[in-house]
Amino acid sequence: MAKWWWLSVSGAQALHLGVSGEEALRYFGNEGASLPLTPSILDSLNASTFASYARRGVPVVIKHGLDGTSFDVEQKPAEWTCDAIARRFPTGRMKMEYTAGEGRQDNPISLKDVETWSKTIEKSGALDPEAPQYAPFYWGVKGGDEGERLWDGKKDLLKQMRKLMQPLPKFLHRSQANQQEILGSPEFWFAGPGAGAKAHMDSHCESTLTLQLAGRKRWRLSWPPAINNGSFAKDGLLADGEPYNVKGGWAPTYSVTLAAGEALLIPPAFVHESKNVGPEDCAPSLTFQFADPAAAGFFRHFHPRLRRLGDFNECWERVAALATFDSRGEGLAARLKRMASTSLAKLSKLESGGSSPLESAVLEAAKKAWPKVVDTNGRLTRENVKSDFILQGSLDFHDLNEDGEVTEAEFTSTFSSWLMTEVLVVQERKQKPKPLKHIEF
Ligand SMILES: *[C@@H]1O[C@H](CO)[C@@H](O)[C@H](O)[C@H]1NC(C)=O
Ligand SMILES: *[C@@H]1O[C@H](CO)[C@@H](O)[C@H](O)[C@H]1NC(C)=O
Repeated sequence: MAKWWWLSVSGAQALHLGVSGEEALRYFGNEGASLPLTPSILDSLNASTFASYARRGVPVVIKHGLDGTSFDVEQKPAEWTCDAIARRFPTGRMKMEYTAGEGRQDNPISLKDVETWSKTIEKSGALDPEAPQYAPFYWGVKGGDEGERLWDGKKDLLKQMRKLMQPLPKFLHRSQANQQEILGSPEFWFAGPGAGAKAHMDSHCESTLTLQLAGRKRWRLSWPPAINNGSFAKDGLLADGEPYNVKGGWAPTYSVTLAAGEALLIPPAFVHESKNVGPEDCAPSLTFQFADPAAAGFFRHFHPRLRRLGDFNECWERVAALATFDSRGEGLAARLKRMASTSLAKLSKLESGGSSPLESAVLEAAKKAWPKVVDTNGRLTRENVKSDFILQGSLDFHDLNEDGEVTEAEFTSTFSSWLMTEVLVVQERKQKPKPLKHIEF
């Protein structure tokens, strides 16, 4: 426990204000394991086991999980090869992504010209010799919703794709939140030999699932880097291909090769990279985001890192909404005022440190907030939140022992840890935080 950055709070409880390297390794793997880890590879897991991985933000490979869907390539391997996809969607239009130079905004390549494009090679410019050296093709069919030109002619290929995506794989919650997110985010990736996506972190807060449709792809991932108190990782540090360029480079915390029919869960805020490692000349994948369940336990545990990670900035509000049960989008300031009659501005003027006025004020805020989140019987269970997707995430955020119920002790610990980090970051901003220079885990 020595490296935990705890502030001791009245003996039993403690604030969780940092995640050391050892602790991160313990969270994801086994003590003493060496990096990179291999994710668990599970055979036909059920929705509740999958949900537990998703909530905790732990990558997992699902084998034989696509039976009963249109993408059961173990049964029908010829249906979703690059050639077959091109034949199915001849009017589709796509582009190369992760090239060495500037990417193109329009979609100049016709899927039907598969003979030509599948033999087109363009360098990725990645410096890391292990990284994909060539650029993949990207058909972001989801963008059809925003009016992007992703097909020729009248036939709506996004609509067609949405039909094909149902029913969803059995291991996914078939909730409305998921239907909406999944059917709103499909994209295809086609990678020639040695081609793939350069290491990068996406800005969205949802988890990603990638299905290997043919061939094999090696994935390398990493969880959010260690960022100490008083430091800040500027936005863009983990942008497309940037992790390779950081002083000292990037080393993955996970590495795994997917075969056709396997799916990989990529948690939010994870740097990820892919590469076709053969033997097929073209390795296609279907990738989409899902919403349910949110990676709430992961957001809670890694909040001290994520709150100081600029590339995660689009999700700070979302995490605050989970921490404050903000199902109606009132916003952080309004919720803090309503739940605890306080504000970040007020709290950040207090002196920090162990047994400080700030610590007392934060604990006081948690004490005031608790009665606002429980039902009339003084309980907070899955039953209480079952009709509200945001509140389910809030429950998961505060459910330290993952038993589906939040106790006052859990809430006090999680809410005050979250709030304390929010305040410390406000204070650090005023002092000009140190920029993060190395990516370590
Ligand atoms: C899901 O699988 C796990 C592990 O095999 C098992 O313990 C659990 O009871 C299953 N849950 C349901 C709802 O079937
Ligand atoms: C982080 O900051 C808080 C408040 O200033 C302090 O109590 C704590 O010891 C710091 N942790 C580390 C690891 O520096």
